[in-house]
Amino acid sequence: MSTHDAVEVITTKRDGRSLSDSQIDWVVDAYTRGDVADEQMSSLAMAILLNGMEQREIARWTAAMIASGERMDFSGLSRPTADKHSTGGVGDKITLPLAPLVAACGVAVPQLSGRGLGHTGGTLDKLEAIPGWRAALSNEEMMRQLEDVGAVICAAGDGLAPADKKLYALRDVTGTVEAIPLIASSIMSKKIAEGTGALVLDVKVGTGAFMKDLDRARELARTMVALGTDAGVRTTALLTDMSTPLGLTAGNAIEVAESVEVLAGGGPADVVELTVALAREMLAGAGVDDVDPADRLADGSAMDAWKAMIRAQGGDPDAALPEAEESHVVAAPTTGVLTRLDAMAVGMAAWRLGAGRARKEDPVQAGAGVVWHARPGDEVTEGQPLFTLLTDEPARFERALASLEDGYDVEPAGTAYEPSPIVLERID
Ligand code: URA
Repeated sequence: MSTHDAVEVITTKRDGRSLSDSQIDWVVDAYTRGDVADEQMSSLAMAILLNGMEQREIARWTAAMIASGERMDFSGLSRPTADKHSTGGVGDKITLPLAPLVAACGVAVPQLSGRGLGHTGGTLDKLEAIPGWRAALSNEEMMRQLEDVGAVICAAGDGLAPADKKLYALRDVTGTVEAIPLIASSIMSKKIAEGTGALVLDVKVGTGAFMKDLDRARELARTMVALGTDAGVRTTALLTDMSTPLGLTAGNAIEVAESVEVLAGGGPADVVELTVALAREMLAGAGVDDVDPADRLADGSAMDAWKAMIRAQGGDPDAALPEAEESHVVAAPTTGVLTRLDAMAVGMAAWRLGAGRARKEDPVQAGAGVVWHARPGDEVTEGQPLFTLLTDEPARFERALASLEDGYDVEPAGTAYEPSPIVLERID
């Protein structure tokens, strides 16, 4: 006989009261097993979105989602582990250089990633642009690669937090994605179940991010840091700017190419800065304080770890990357200073060009995306290329151009431009 029923749990939260531990354990388990219906869980999710949850409820909800599946254990590895999670941004290829960089510093990175949905790209979609590379690994393969190479980026198996998988799909179609308790428990249940020893959260703030304002981003970061810390994972968060896209590319193959430039000691300054800042946080969380990640980029050891990581998953790190069949250049309309480049506009354009997907079963184009040839603060000359749009299907250019139209400003030469820092705040 069940200890609770769905209507009683829903009305508790609807009336603004706290859920008990046993109500939470019951409803998460019963939903995962199919004993609580989708319409009941969507009603509860909406009540949570409207009335919130206390930290105790969020922690219990997270624990119940972890308990719905398997937990991985890397304690048998010869080195400590650290992982990073980004809440998602445009041009956010940071995981690609970061995982091998941290491995080159002596800390293993077990990164379970997802595919992109909507205007933010997915790490697996980017890596799948590399000929031969495969995302699916067994737990044994993952463990062996962590020991031998020190870094794995692969798809999360179905066994990890299945309650979250079901609930996230439901939230996506019921207008309940934005609830901070649900976002925090969703992300942290997967990261805690993954078994990493340390975790750094890159919480994006700005037009191209989930969280458009600093206060909500801070609340999400604090909630997640508390969940991780309580579960024994050394967790910190950086709040980072996502009003401007990262680097100079948004797409799949073109973001891999930019990441390889960073690993070769070059690449855009903002991508390098954020990669090194996150690496330092991961190393500190793992208790390694005698290595400077910037040195490992400069001496080529991060590049060696990248090549080993790609080869271990069947990829050829030296193969030519796929290129889009068609391109279209947008020229600077006037001479002056680029004072704004909107992350959401660029993300939408890349998505419309075929770099992202509208439904989770859609394919993505490896070569599609947007390259921008200037960053805010740069001077531009009328007629010079400002953007290059890439796709295999020229019919996509029109809608991509429409999303870029109001996405940037060129102001007269001499206009003051105040650059905003990339790392806005640190939370521990
Ligand atoms: N990413 C997740 O994994 N879950 C959320 O709820 C939001 C973003």
